Order: sequence, then C-alpha cells, then structure tokens
Amino acid sequence: MTTDTDSLQADILGQIADAAAPEALETVRVAAMGKSGSVTALLKTLGGMSPEDRQVQGPRLNGLREAITAALAARKTALESAALDARLAAERQDMTLPVALPPQGSIHPVSQVMDELAEIFADLGFTVVAGPEIEDDWHNFTALNMPESHPARAMHDTFYVAEQPDGDRKLVLRTHTSNLQIRTMMTQEPPIRIIAPGRVYRSDSDATHTPMFHQIEGMVIDKGTTLANLRWTLETFIKAFFEVDDVTLRFRPSYFPFTEPSVEVDVGYSSKTNKPASGDAVDKWLEVLGSGMVHPRVIAACGLDPTVYQGFAFGCGIDRLAMLKYGMNDLRPFFDADLRWLKHHGFSAFDVPTLSGGVSA
Ligand code: DAH
Repeated sequence: MTTDTDSLQADILGQIADAAAPEALETVRVAAMGKSGSVTALLKTLGGMSPEDRQVQGPRLNGLREAITAALAARKTALESAALDARLAAERQDMTLPVALPPQGSIHPVSQVMDELAEIFADLGFTVVAGPEIEDDWHNFTALNMPESHPARAMHDTFYVAEQPDGDRKLVLRTHTSNLQIRTMMTQEPPIRIIAPGRVYRSDSDATHTPMFHQIEGMVIDKGTTLANLRWTLETFIKAFFEVDDVTLRFRPSYFPFTEPSVEVDVGYSSKTNKPASGDAVDKWLEVLGSGMVHPRVIAACGLDPTVYQGFAFGCGIDRLAMLKYGMNDLRPFFDADLRWLKHHGFSAFDVPTLSGGVSA
C-alpha cells in the first residue's frame, strides 16, 4: 500500500508536470481527483477499513490528495501565466511604426472651451487652480455659508459617497467648483485671482443636464474690490470668449448663500447674428452665470478678515458656454464618445487658442 501510494503520487505528479496545456492538465485532474479518479477511489477505501488501518492510511491518503491538489493548482497558475506571456508577446505592437492613416483624434469642445477660458483669464492675471472632485461636506457646503440645515443644499441633488470616513467631514461628489473658493483662500495670501475649471456632479439628467458636467469658478479677493470690478471683468470675458466687439450684460438681483449681494448675469443676444450683441441689436437674453460679492462669512470661514478683504466670485457652466458658442443644443452627445460627433464638433490639436489669433481660430 505504501509503495502503491508513493508510486501513484510520483506518477500523477509526473503527469501534472508534463501537462503542456490547460486541457491536458484537466484530463490529469479528472483521472486522479474526478468522481472515478484513482485518488478518489483510494480515498473511498478509507470507509471500509478497520479503525487501526484507517489511523495509518488516513493521513497518508490525505497527504496524497493534498500533494496532488497543490501540484494541480501550481501547474494551472504556471500554464496561465505562460499563456498570458505568449499572448502579450504575440499581440505586441510597435508603437513607433508609421501609421497608415493621419491621426483621427480631435480636441473635445469642452477641452477647447477650457483652453479658451484659461487663455482669456490668464491675460487678466488669473491663475488656474484645481481641487478634488470627491470633496468633503465642509468645503462643498458649510464653508460656503450653507450649514447642515440650509435649504440651498437640497437644490444641489448631491451624490453622497457610500463609504464615509470617521469624523464629521462627510464626503460628496462636488456639486460645484465653488469648493475652490475655499481651498484657495485657505492656502493663498490675497491678492487672489483664480479660475477653477473642472468636473462637477449632480443627480440630474435630460437634454441639457447630465449627472457629470463642467463648471468654471472665478474669484478675486483683494482690498477695495467692488461690484464694478466684477462687471468689467465679466464684460471683458464675455466679449473675448464670444469674439464680439461689444456686449450688453444684464445684472439681475439673485440669491446665492456664498455671495452678498448676488447677481445673475444675462448676456444680450441677437437672433439675427446668432451672437451676443449690444444695445438695440439685443432681442433676447441668455442666462449664463451666477456671481456676486463673496459673503463676509465665507471670507471669515477661510481665516481671512472680512473687514480687510473682500472680492467677487462667479460660476458658470462650461458645457453651456460651448453649446452657445458652437451651436449645439443637446448636451448628452458630449459624453457619448461617438466618433462621428467628435469629428464634426472637435477641434484640431494644432489650433491653440490665443488672444491675438482669436481664441477659437
Ligand atoms: N456655485 C453655483 C452653482 O453651482 C454657481 C455660482 C453662483 C458660483 C454664484 C459663484 C457665484 O461663484 O458667485 O450653481
């Protein structure tokens, strides 16, 4: 029995080592460990043994079974990684070879508009900042003068992160880029001039809303900043962005928790030219952004003295800017990755927006 077991083990281990493919290994496994396999048959004899014999043979047969099982598993892993190596070698691509087709890629309208905005605001002395898309409650809401029970929180259709860290800073997907107002004021000394373009998230979906979309936040914090500075900045931005010589903006009183006073800004538009316009040429108004003077409580929450510093902020949808400027009326295809749409609406990677050449040239 002993030699039988030993030679059976040696025999099967040899077959396992020889198995050159997963199918061959499976055949060996079934012949040894399958329902009517050789090892299974031996294990079955344990039941009919006297207790003394079983005490001797039990450990030996179990040892046999364990050795075979372990060898099968090890061989299986080795065969799989060899197969993967072979496949990687066979499917190797030489990325340095010349291509048959010219590059098919294009710059997405959202990226294009972000580049245009960065160019326009850089010229006005703004720097671009970025921050986390998974944000804590405090930076997204509380510090922006929206405490726990504030009704404005409910309007944001917030996505909450399922796994919450310990402590009171609950995580959300940021509902706006205004979190960068806070993050910037807490890390930079005034004077501050920033824009923060980026992704934001809200549980909302139709032709003009997608659960992920893009905003740009702008903020200036300094001594002696006024609403007049905001107005000039926005006019300059809108004229440069839409590439028109003049534009009439309409400031409507509004409410945002983080600004006081708050204004919504409409751009005068001419349906004749399909462009922003000024004076009598205006025959309708487009709502494009929210803005106002940064609320003293927001400034104080960031550790700055609101009796010394004040400033303005604005926030605006980048996708909407792209739709208005480049004549698209459905937001959903922006994120469908449909090559035909991208080819039609995309921009050449060689056309870098510059103020001198026209930002969208
Ligand atoms: N955070 C606002 C939103 O997502 C937009 C906004 C309004 C930003 C007014 C601002 C602002 O900075 O002053 O709807």
